[in-house]
Amino acid sequence: MADRVLVVDDEQNLRKVLAATLQREGYEVQVAADGEEALAALERDGADVIVTDLVMPRMDGLTLLRRVVARHPDVPVIVVTAHGRVDRAVEAMKAGAFDFVAKPFETAELKAIIAKAARQSDENAKNVIPEAPQEGTARRYTEIVGRGARMQELQQIIGKVADAPSTVLIQGESGTGKELVATALHEKSSRRDRPFIKINCAAIPRDLVEAELFGFEKGAFTGAVSSKPGRFELADGGTLFLDEIGEVPLEMQVKLLRAIQESEFERVGGVKTTRVEVRLIAATSRDLSKEIIAGRFREDLFYRLNVVPVFLPPLRERRDDIPLLVEHFRQKYNARLKKAVERVDDEALQALAAYSWPGNIRELENILERTILFAEGTTIRAADLPASLRQGGVAAEAPPLHSLSGPPGPLKEIVREQVQAIERELIMRGLEVTSGNVTRTARLLKISRKSLQMKMKEFGLREVES
Ligand SMILES: Nc1ncnc2c1ncn2[C@@H]1O[C@H](COP(=O)(O)OP(=O)(O)OP(=O)(O)O)[C@@H](O)[C@H]1O
Ligand SMILES: [Mg+2]
Repeated sequence: MADRVLVVDDEQNLRKVLAATLQREGYEVQVAADGEEALAALERDGADVIVTDLVMPRMDGLTLLRRVVARHPDVPVIVVTAHGRVDRAVEAMKAGAFDFVAKPFETAELKAIIAKAARQSDENAKNVIPEAPQEGTARRYTEIVGRGARMQELQQIIGKVADAPSTVLIQGESGTGKELVATALHEKSSRRDRPFIKINCAAIPRDLVEAELFGFEKGAFTGAVSSKPGRFELADGGTLFLDEIGEVPLEMQVKLLRAIQESEFERVGGVKTTRVEVRLIAATSRDLSKEIIAGRFREDLFYRLNVVPVFLPPLRERRDDIPLLVEHFRQKYNARLKKAVERVDDEALQALAAYSWPGNIRELENILERTILFAEGTTIRAADLPASLRQGGVAAEAPPLHSLSGPPGPLKEIVREQVQAIERELIMRGLEVTSGNVTRTARLLKISRKSLQMKMKEFGLREVES
């Protein structure tokens, strides 16, 4: 059966063009002019993939995304962002978007992403039925690439704890492979044929967290037209992956702690106590010890989760693995995109190894996928890589600070240069910690968003659009 794509955009022409293009690709296409129309269409006819614009009247794309993630977590949402709005893209990704494309986009790029989302959607559809996979179905292959010391250590830990029932807490920046490690733990355990249920706590509206985790009975709240099991129940006998656990509202943390400790809970609006047996894996990109101090995370829940702590290093701290990862993704996307890229030349590898990778392995993977998709020949050269990466973007090598060797020169000029170098360095670090989020970086540096943008422009740090 053809995959069904729901295209959401308030510009009629864009909708028409996109719909026609996708129909030619063999998709069944539906269109909607805003979030509300889209939700109605989704409820009525369903969809395998949603492509949505962000700025729209009535209900915008981000709200639509959040609703879809909450109610139809299996439908991947691709978000179309305005050129240069990295902050918007990051926000959408955090809210659970499958991927994003920046306007103006190449049709080929969007098609590749939709194809990827459709495959994911098919896989999700298989996963929701918590049954052992049929014989003959290939199990998803989870390979953790990396030979450096820290990766070897990680592999050992995974090998040792995979089959234990103990809770694992995975900590690491965005894109470092937390979900991959959780998947590997499940696949290497004897529960591998039982359900592996994921829940992204950051993507669920506060008031729906309880219903998502524990399920609800018919009539428990407006809109609860039938009863529904929660993720704990779906995961019975298997593994439950609580992603972005740092985002669970404080008042829910008590209920979560009880469910974990006693292995039992009640559905929202229900009286019957349900017992389950699940292996828990939690992940967060926040520093939970700081969250505890700030009063946003319960210490008792932290200790209950942190039985086996696993820390995933940022990519910039294990650059020795970059060539290996590049090779891994080259093979992966050659196969997926039916391309024949044979090598990545030295200059390109050097550029890749020098970049600071604020988005870690996910960013590396995305850049390689796009570069391979657009590659004309068999070799990828530095010139084929995105400009931001070649010119340093958020670069690894900042200009050396306080390099006051040589004869003295004009005092004011030298002081100004030094101040600028320090400013640039601090801004780059800020962007690194916030994964490129301009608003949060400004807050961190205690300057206005506007002056941060001006400085970024001045230092050539990233394209900004007001
Ligand atoms: N060591 C690795 N080897 C191969 N691929 C990896 C590795 N680590 C991460 N990846 C790939 O990078 C991408 C991002 O990984 P993943 O989703 O697990 O990160 P994450 O830490 O959960 O990120 P986020 O915080 O953004 O959710 C995935 O496509 C994953 O397959
Ligand atoms: Mg993740």
